[in-house]
Amino acid sequence: MDEAEIAAFVARTIERGELDATTGEGLVQAFEQAWAQMMGGGHALALCNGTAALFTALLAAGAGPGHEVICPPLAPPYALAPILHCGAKPVFADVDPRTLTIDPAAALPLAGPSTRAILAVDLFGHPADIDSLVPAAHALGITVIEDCAQALGATYGGLPAGAKADLAVFSLHATKNLPAGEGGVLWTRDRRLFERALLVGMHPVRLARELSEPALRRYLDTGRGYNFRPHPLGIALALARLKSFPADFERRQKSARYLDEKIRGIPGLKPAFVAPGCTHAYNLHPVFYHGEPRGAGSVDDYVRRLRKAGLDADVLWPLAYDLPLFQEKEFPSPHCPAAEKAENTVFFFGWGGYTGASRDDLDRIVSLLEAAMQC
Ligand SMILES: Cc1ncc(COP(=O)(O)O)c(C=O)c1O
Repeated sequence: MDEAEIAAFVARTIERGELDATTGEGLVQAFEQAWAQMMGGGHALALCNGTAALFTALLAAGAGPGHEVICPPLAPPYALAPILHCGAKPVFADVDPRTLTIDPAAALPLAGPSTRAILAVDLFGHPADIDSLVPAAHALGITVIEDCAQALGATYGGLPAGAKADLAVFSLHATKNLPAGEGGVLWTRDRRLFERALLVGMHPVRLARELSEPALRRYLDTGRGYNFRPHPLGIALALARLKSFPADFERRQKSARYLDEKIRGIPGLKPAFVAPGCTHAYNLHPVFYHGEPRGAGSVDDYVRRLRKAGLDADVLWPLAYDLPLFQEKEFPSPHCPAAEKAENTVFFFGWGGYTGASRDDLDRIVSLLEAAMQC
């Protein structure tokens, strides 16, 4: 579907006056069904953004005051803030130094009687090692939530990223792999978790239609009282773009592979590691920087030069436990040497991806990466 067809599709949505998601029917329902189909079954819930989807997932998992949620410190801070919003305490576990996703060997020993959930973040688009998390977490009665906001299109063991988690969360933000401006999706295979998620931010009209559990139907008049409904215009865009997503994603993959091949040839840089059995979604393009021994300065210096030359590169977000928002909550003193090393050696670029990039565009990026190595 090209941009003109999408524009016509959106115009029809306006004409029909389908501009609210109160009932969850029509366009929203069609989108949720298409999403569930893409995930191989289960239930999808469209929401206003990925942050609301994360908050909803945490509440559906039962996280609240007095509970702990194990998470990596290396993530966009807004991906971890919902843990605070639901009243739970984040417990930070180190990341795998190659994939930069939560390390199950670091996370699982942190689980205790108050642990409600593990929140795994598919950073940059590399799926977390979900097979090493889920069975062990389930044995302890812990729910696994996978933040796939950056990982749409990624695969893990031949399945879409998120498909093996209890709850998976996606973002449809303008910079994500399926951009709808703003929007989010929660997905789960578990009908009970889905109904708990519905209760958080959907309108009572929808709740009356879809809630089956008597314990939840007691709250029909109010739900949890939030409004996390998506805007149907965004959903119209997302539904239209879902059709061309496989082809768009393949173009993104081709560009990423080309860039990684070139990055491998630049002394001082190393491309992202992709674990066997995984596809990286490359929502953002991470690069490991080892320039210092060659005198190219710190990763901050290098990224400063890249930005000055016109490449929209960035260093990693500060580790969450170093940020004032997270320091308001007491948490056990974190031991995350791999995340701390990554903070000083990894950068990324590519907000918005390279779906439409020409070979010349990609070569320009490569020459900027090379040139910035010379101080
Ligand atoms: C990893 C991650 N989690 C969560 C979010 C939040 O999504 P949104 O911006 O749609 O609220 C984002 C994106 O911005 C993200 O990159």
